[in-house]
Amino acid sequence: MKKIYLNPSEMPTQWFNLLSVIPQLAPPISPMTGKPATPEEMLALFPGPILEQEMSNQEFFDIPEEVLDILTIWRPTPVVRAERLEKALGTDCKIYFKNEGVSPAGSHKTNTAVAQAYYNKICGIKKLTTETGAGQWGSALSYATSLFDMALRVYIVKVSYFQKPYRKSFMNMFGAEVIPSPSDMTNAGRAELKRDPESNGSLGLAISEAVEEAAMNKDINYALGSVLNHVLLHQSIIGLEAKKQMEIGGDYPDMVFASCGGGSNFGGIASAFIKDKIEGKKVDCVAVEPLSCPTLTKGEFTFDYGDVAKMTPIMQMYTLGHDFMPPAIHAGGLRYHGDSPIVSKMYNEGIIDARSVGQLDVFKYGVMFAKTEGIVPAPESAHAIAGACNEALECDKRGEKKSLLFCLSGHGFFDMASYDAYFEGKLEDYEYPEEAIAQSLKGVPEVKF
Ligand SMILES: Cc1ncc(COP(=O)(O)O)c(C=O)c1O
Repeated sequence: MKKIYLNPSEMPTQWFNLLSVIPQLAPPISPMTGKPATPEEMLALFPGPILEQEMSNQEFFDIPEEVLDILTIWRPTPVVRAERLEKALGTDCKIYFKNEGVSPAGSHKTNTAVAQAYYNKICGIKKLTTETGAGQWGSALSYATSLFDMALRVYIVKVSYFQKPYRKSFMNMFGAEVIPSPSDMTNAGRAELKRDPESNGSLGLAISEAVEEAAMNKDINYALGSVLNHVLLHQSIIGLEAKKQMEIGGDYPDMVFASCGGGSNFGGIASAFIKDKIEGKKVDCVAVEPLSCPTLTKGEFTFDYGDVAKMTPIMQMYTLGHDFMPPAIHAGGLRYHGDSPIVSKMYNEGIIDARSVGQLDVFKYGVMFAKTEGIVPAPESAHAIAGACNEALECDKRGEKKSLLFCLSGHGFFDMASYDAYFEGKLEDYEYPEEAIAQSLKGVPEVKF
């Protein structure tokens, strides 16, 4: 079977919570008190139902009717057997992908954007702020807030603002205001502009700007597109669907690959399979990250801030240090200094694996995928493609025939400038120097609670 569809009536009606099966996480620590953050502190940014999902070990959460109704605009998404890619590689492995690029905003981010906009709306919030790296999350939340008639301000990392001008047009189309970060609208932005007027910005800094605005205004909440537990919960629908689809196709993946920025598409597709693994089934889930931002593979498992200005709760995670300024590689969505506490815990406990890939490999396989499967992948998603293709070739060398599943987290129609740079030979691999990582790790806070 080349394409495996589910009917809308077969779409999961509950989200699965990874917190119910993995070892307990350390609590988020308040940056103000150095003690576990209180619900009251978190309520300044998030609505009650989201906070409940963030903290709960409950195994399943019902997806609200209104959210289900919107999700069926593009869900269930297909699982596709990438036969032409297999042929081009000359591999004996089977390669499948779950296509999250079919959502209205073009990526998996829309799954949680709709849920977050909904919960804020029913709690009476009329405006949200957020950050965006590659522009995918900002686009998804712009679409979602427009569905619920809410206002949105998006702080977009400056380098992406200039690399992808049509992201701004897309967000404006849905009524969002788009501000390149660092901006002079917040203390965090002004401090960075003073330090470096030419700053490219970073996700950590854009988060500071968005959090600062929400924290200063009672009527404004903040929404985050990755990292946090509730985001992985909303993304679990990817893995729940994929597992059913693999069953229908009469197969089960030996390995599951996804790109890893903050960890939400990885946590999403891996969720159902990790539950199986913990219950004794043999399946390897692999997070694929850039060589230039190697959070899991070269970072440290410790407590750190989620942003540059130290406004977010301090969380235990793999980090390269909150003031790590990543190079302007083209996969903007994978340039975050930290990682989801859930993904970090699973990596630290040996439940999942992680690998890093250089961008030349990423673009090589991205182009091969476009030519064979007819979909231009987002550079972030091409990390997962590269992870799966490299594994297939290694399996061939070992004489193994595995089934490999990866998450195609988004399409790359807004990323053509990056592909042009690749075609013109302007890209090179960049490995973040160990000394620079050690230097930025010096800034992580000491936590005792
Ligand atoms: C297409 C795409 N894939 C993956 C990611 C990485 O985010 P996460 O690790 O939360 O899935 C992003 C982030 O912007 C993205 O835009």
